[in-house]
Amino acid sequence: GPELLTDRFGRVHRDLRISLTDKCNLRCTYCMPEEGMEWIAKSQQLSVDEMVRIAAVAVGHGITEIRLTGGEPLLYPQVVEITQRLAALDGAPEVSMTTNGLRLASLAGPLRDAGLTRLNISLDTVRADRYFALTRRRRFADVMAGCDAADAAGFTGTKLNSVLMRGVNDDEAVDLVEFAVARGYEPRFIEQMPLDAGHTWSREAMVPADEIFDALARVYELTPVPHRGAAPAQRWYLNGSHATVGIIASVTRPFCGACDRLRLTSDGQLRNCLFQRGESDLRTLVRQGGTDDDIAYALGASVAQKLPGHGINDPGFIQPDRGMSAIGG
Ligand code: GTP
Ligand code: 5AD
Ligand code: SF4
Repeated sequence: GPELLTDRFGRVHRDLRISLTDKCNLRCTYCMPEEGMEWIAKSQQLSVDEMVRIAAVAVGHGITEIRLTGGEPLLYPQVVEITQRLAALDGAPEVSMTTNGLRLASLAGPLRDAGLTRLNISLDTVRADRYFALTRRRRFADVMAGCDAADAAGFTGTKLNSVLMRGVNDDEAVDLVEFAVARGYEPRFIEQMPLDAGHTWSREAMVPADEIFDALARVYELTPVPHRGAAPAQRWYLNGSHATVGIIASVTRPFCGACDRLRLTSDGQLRNCLFQRGESDLRTLVRQGGTDDDIAYALGASVAQKLPGHGINDPGFIQPDRGMSAIGG
C-alpha cells in the first residue's frame, strides 16, 4: 500500500481540506469585518493545476477525502472544473464541500454532475431579518433557493452547520433542528472557536456544547449514535427516529486526538492544524520546480510536526494570525 501520512501520535491523515478562495459574499460578524479583508493577491493563489497536483500527491499518500472550503468556495471561478478533476484522481477520493449556500441555486447541479458527493451548508438562523444582522447581507432567500437546488440536484446526507452565539441566536437551536430535519439535513451546532479576523472571541460569548445539549434535551429525546471515528461531531438520534443532530465541541471537548486532517490554503500554504503556528510554503516549492517527491516530503514533514492538540484551553494560547476565512473552515 501507499506510504501513509502518520504523525508522532499515530494519527493517520485521511482528510485534505482545500480552501479554494479567501473571499466571501457574506460578512458574518464572528468571521469578517464589514469592509472585508485584505484579499490574497491573484499571483499568490494556486492555479487549478497546482491544487490538483498537490492533491494527487496527497491521495497517493493515503488521503481519501477532500473537503472544499473557503472563504466561500462557490466564489472560486473554476469550482466545477476543480471538483471534477479532484473526483477523477487516481484513488477516487471523496470530494465534498462546506459552503454558505448562496450560489448553489446555479451551481448545485453542475457540481453534482462533476462528482461532488456531499454538501455542508452553513446557516446560523432561520429568520430572514436576523440573517441580515448576522451576515450583514440580505441573502436569506438565496440560501433557501440554494437548499432547494441542492435537494433537486440529488444531494443527500447534507448537513446544516450553525454557530450559536450568546444573546444573538442561542434561542434558535430548536428552530434550526426543525428546519434541518424537515429538509432531511443533519443539524449541527458548532462551538465558536478563537479564529475570527478581529480576535474578539470570548469564552463567555461562546455557547458551550453542554448548554446546547441541555437546550435540545428539554425538547427531544436524545440517544447517542455510536461509532464516532475521526468525526468532529458527537451525534444523537432525535426522538428515536433515524434523524440525528450533531454537536461539534471543538473548545470544551477537543477531538484533536482523533484528528485526521491536513489543510491547504488558497495561497498554497500547508497547515497541519487550524491552530498551527506557522505554515509550510508549498506554493514556492511547486513554483520553484519541486517534484512530486518533494511535495510528498513536505506533506510528511508537516504531519511530523503536528502537535497533540490545538491548545485553546492552555494558559499561553495564541490565536493564529490568519482567520478562518483564509485558513479554510
Ligand atoms: P463532515 O461531518 O464529514 O461533513 O465533516 P466536518 O464536520 O469536518 O465538516 P465541516 O467543514 O462542516 O466542519 C464543521 C465545523 O467543524 C467547522 O466549522 C469547524 O468549526 C469544525 N472543524 C472542522 N475541522 C476542524 C478541525 O480540524 N479542528 C477543529 N477544532 N474544528 C474543526
Ligand atoms: N468558530 C467555529 N466555527 C466557525 N465558522 C466560522 N468561523 C468560526 C469560528 N470562529 C464556521 C462557519 C461555517 C464553517 C465553515 O465554519 O459558520 O459553518
Ligand atoms: Fe463567509 Fe463563512 Fe466567514 Fe461567514 S463564516 S463571512 S460565510 S467565510
